[in-house]
Amino acid sequence: MSYRNAALPVAERVADLLTRMTIDEKIFQLFQTFITDENREEVKQQIRATGLGSRILAASNLAGNMMLRMAELDDLNEIQRIAVEESRLGIPILHGRDVIHGHRTVFPIPLAMAATFDPAAMEEAFRIAAQEARAAGVHWSFAPMMDIARDPRWGRIIEGFGEDPYLGARMAEAAVYGFQGDHNEDGYWPSDRILACAKHYVGYGAAEGGRDYNTAEISDHTLRNIYLPPFKAAVRAGVGSVMSAFHDLNGESASGSRYLLTDILRGEFGFDGFVVSDWGSVDDLIHHRVAADERDAARIAFDAGVDMEMVSLCYIHHLAELIQAGEISHQQLDDACGRVLAAKFSLGLFENPYVERPNPVNLQMPAENLQASRRTAARGMVLLENNGLLPLSKETRRIAVIGPYADQRRAMLGSWVNDGLTDETATLVEAMCAACPQAEILTAPIGLYDEMLMAAAGADVVILAVGESNARNGENNHVAVLHLPAGQDELVRAVGKIGKPTVLVVFSGRPLVLTDLVGSVDAVLWAWHPGSAGAYAAADVLFGDINPGGKLPVSFPRAGGQIPVHYNANSTGKGGSDYLDLPGKPLYPFGFGLSYTTFEISDLRLSQDQFKAGETVNVSVQVQNSGQRAGDEIVQCYIQDCVSHLTRPVRELKGFRRVTLQPGESRRVEFALGPDELSYYGPSGKWLLEPGVFKVWLGNDSRAALEGSFTVTP
Ligand code: GLC
Repeated sequence: MSYRNAALPVAERVADLLTRMTIDEKIFQLFQTFITDENREEVKQQIRATGLGSRILAASNLAGNMMLRMAELDDLNEIQRIAVEESRLGIPILHGRDVIHGHRTVFPIPLAMAATFDPAAMEEAFRIAAQEARAAGVHWSFAPMMDIARDPRWGRIIEGFGEDPYLGARMAEAAVYGFQGDHNEDGYWPSDRILACAKHYVGYGAAEGGRDYNTAEISDHTLRNIYLPPFKAAVRAGVGSVMSAFHDLNGESASGSRYLLTDILRGEFGFDGFVVSDWGSVDDLIHHRVAADERDAARIAFDAGVDMEMVSLCYIHHLAELIQAGEISHQQLDDACGRVLAAKFSLGLFENPYVERPNPVNLQMPAENLQASRRTAARGMVLLENNGLLPLSKETRRIAVIGPYADQRRAMLGSWVNDGLTDETATLVEAMCAACPQAEILTAPIGLYDEMLMAAAGADVVILAVGESNARNGENNHVAVLHLPAGQDELVRAVGKIGKPTVLVVFSGRPLVLTDLVGSVDAVLWAWHPGSAGAYAAADVLFGDINPGGKLPVSFPRAGGQIPVHYNANSTGKGGSDYLDLPGKPLYPFGFGLSYTTFEISDLRLSQDQFKAGETVNVSVQVQNSGQRAGDEIVQCYIQDCVSHLTRPVRELKGFRRVTLQPGESRRVEFALGPDELSYYGPSGKWLLEPGVFKVWLGNDSRAALEGSFTVTP
């Protein structure tokens, strides 16, 4: 049977298999279910009768903070064996799991990895996650999440790459390459990789009020210029699947919109993988009241372009009848089923359906993977304030390490972690002891307020570890108040009053409001939720073993009332940015981050100041490390289209480069600005480059002042 012939290209094997399948067998390839003790036997029977598209290795849509253990080898292989050996055509089951920022080795949350402004680090993290996950029997991860987020009240801001479409796009494509690798000319991916999934398509991060699952209203102009670019980049990078989102967007359910899922995603972007719904989001069309019942929901979602239904039952209950009634065509069914089969062939599942060896969750994290996580965590940490106190000397005698996150393990890992092990995640106290064994580390059990203050009073330097738990982040965890959780602001002020040199280390997923706290301390290190080796990474930075170079991928507001306060806003006619009671600018802008050394960025040069549309201009600057310590600078390139048919942001990031320079070292950093960088979705959604004058700024955050300009002629 030629679909079993691994020498054939994927497309030929799909075509052959489809000719052999019944309608029911095709429909069940479009179904993803989870298995529990209660439904196990029923699912086994179903697999024998019709096969099964996918098994999700989770048991709730709130898997992000539940640490649901990975199904073991025997479990996975038992169910798989039924599909391969006891069903009529032996089609393997696709194992899907939320491997969001690491599998066994947990990397920093994606927002923290975006703060590295280092796509190579992102690709490495996702490659490592793929290799560990595949070895455990995972074939497909529901990641990278690439929702543009401008509202830190939304708990899922931690899962994506921040507020900027250009940074988001670069990180999305890096993550896709890391997960999938490159497929060969016959369509096969490397056998140690997994299928990626671009989610949540689209505009999910614009939920009103930052309230998860809530309505989003986004003009087509903003949708195309801000929210879609990361998905377009992921498609261009060959992403094998896309997940349709929960929410309603501009009057349509995102999981029921033909305009989004077929016209744009397939028609314009050329996506040729398969679309999976989010957890029950086909059934949610009934809750959005755009479908009267399951049958209606199945028809609308399937016709819109959702190929596989995640856990709800509309498709397996009604697709056969809809085809019988001619409301869905046989061709549509073959197309959807063919896309899922193509993924299974591309992953080599027909040749290697089983987990060959024990789940690495039970083995020691590979040292080189843990080192990579530690390196990336340090590179993503952002130094927000420093009056010279940092880096600390390892000669310091007495160091107080106090606060609610001084001895935290689980929160270091962040939300959306299923396979990392909390009890082997170091605390900051342990990491500081390891980094500075000759120092006396003073600490106090969290909650014992006076003891913490006494530890601070008795120390030469205070490390005050604050933040928020992973349980306040991720799905369905939105907050209305962006301050540190209860009691921590007071603790910071009380410690500040003691008058010892104090570093505030913040372990948080989402941006928080630090406005009234920074005056109480001498330095602020934003450590995010930094992963399996995050505490060690924080110690590396605090003692200067790593010079922090991270930059903010999202603006940090002065107050929640400023939201949205993103850098790439449009020009306003009357100025109008400051409030009566606060400036309009954020406390820390997009792209901001300090270093232990200083950098001079100068001598902006253009390869030409006038050129025809379609040509490219090279813009460069000289960057010098003018300090005493080696360090990284992230040079950023922003443009402004001075006059355009439709409004465009006052600034748009169109290039960044992280460079490491030794003291005194100087280097020229260059960016190429061509049609890709200068065009936008203009009138009637057409991607175009409008001739005219452009400004360009290069610098080390979104306030870059070194300016040039050029003219594009028709
Ligand atoms: C959840 C999330 C999605 C996740 C899926 C499977 O509800 O929205 O991001 O991948 O269900 O766990």
